[in-house]
Amino acid sequence: MKKLTLTTDCELLDYDELSAPERELVDRASEATFRSYAPYSHFSVGAAIRLSNGSIVCGANQENVAFPSGTCAERSAAFYAHAEHPDADFVAIAIAARGTDGKPLAEPISPCGACRQSLLQYELLAGREVPVLLVGRDHICRLPSVRSLLPLAFTSL
Ligand code: THU
Repeated sequence: MKKLTLTTDCELLDYDELSAPERELVDRASEATFRSYAPYSHFSVGAAIRLSNGSIVCGANQENVAFPSGTCAERSAAFYAHAEHPDADFVAIAIAARGTDGKPLAEPISPCGACRQSLLQYELLAGREVPVLLVGRDHICRLPSVRSLLPLAFTSL
């Protein structure tokens, strides 16, 4: 038997340690939480995606009375980004959330499985790693790629 060990590098940074473009993306994701429509969970998530054409596209979770019909912030941003800018590559992603008390979460959240798989599609399309910034009040977690969030991903039909 052979054993395969999969590891994920995650850097924990203060806001001040981020580059200016990273700080901008983090700010945009945090602002996007205020455009969340979450009447059921009261949990507001925002995502911001920097594209290779210089644009930043944001999304926020959108809930629906028929629960599965809603979507997460990450997918709302990713699908909007690629629908509006089909020729641009994803460069970086930031994700922020506010809890049911309306306050930014101390610890960052990380994307659900469906969002990881959806974001990976655009990382593969870009042909290079797309760093992911998970925004918490106390620190920001920087992952080198979407792939690092989804070991053993399904990538081929
Ligand atoms: N949600 C996101 O938008 N992104 C995540 O990464 C996790 C969860 C949303 C879905 C739902 O509207 C609410 O947060 C509570 O699960």
